[in-house]
Amino acid sequence: MSANTALQGMDEAVDAYCKRNRFQQEDITLGRARVFVKQHRLNTRQRNSVLKLKVATNCPDWDTRMKILHACSQEVIGDFEYGQGKPHWKIMEELGMAIGLPREEIVAAKPLPTTEVAWAAWEGLMASRHWLEGIVANACAERANVPGYGRGDAREHGNSWVQRRRWKKAFDLNDDQLEFWSVHELADIDHSNLAWQAVAEHAERLTRHTFDLASLRARPTHLEKLDQLTVELLLGAR
Ligand SMILES: [Fe+2]
Repeated sequence: MSANTALQGMDEAVDAYCKRNRFQQEDITLGRARVFVKQHRLNTRQRNSVLKLKVATNCPDWDTRMKILHACSQEVIGDFEYGQGKPHWKIMEELGMAIGLPREEIVAAKPLPTTEVAWAAWEGLMASRHWLEGIVANACAERANVPGYGRGDAREHGNSWVQRRRWKKAFDLNDDQLEFWSVHELADIDHSNLAWQAVAEHAERLTRHTFDLASLRARPTHLEKLDQLTVELLLGAR
């Protein structure tokens, strides 16, 4: 299998996910939005202060490792490129407050059981597998926000673009309050390109020695199931 075939498989898995996951396909409600804020704030912190760093540790390519750390720093320390110096979890808090959640309630939130399961499975992929498999796990969740996947507006503009308009209409929010979504229209192109470029550059050379390239095609599918599990539970909170 060539790197192009692996990339095509990754694209197909993200496209299929975008076309059928309920968070993208169904309307937003206040209950769903509140659970999303509380869980995704925790998710952003865990993925970018623990899980993605394990991939950086395992990555022998210095430039790629620095790009992983830079992306993580935007998420958990401060994003001076797209987020006015604020980390993404903080911008998520502001979105939650804009829809009526007290900050104390957001901060006190605990991970749902499905969020814990997703983190445990991600850890399996990101801590102890080949770094190229790990970096796909780093980025495929973000890839849905990039244009080219799903249908209609999502395919043309990306999921964040669609969510920004959906939340604006449902909750009557202004552009400042919707910053979480506008930031991710741009940041997730950079963040997910990291993995797609790493596979393009390294997969064929590494696969001769170290692992089965076919596993890269399988990664998004596994993660999609986990992500789907979390989203389904979130959507139960109407
Ligand atoms: Fe982010």
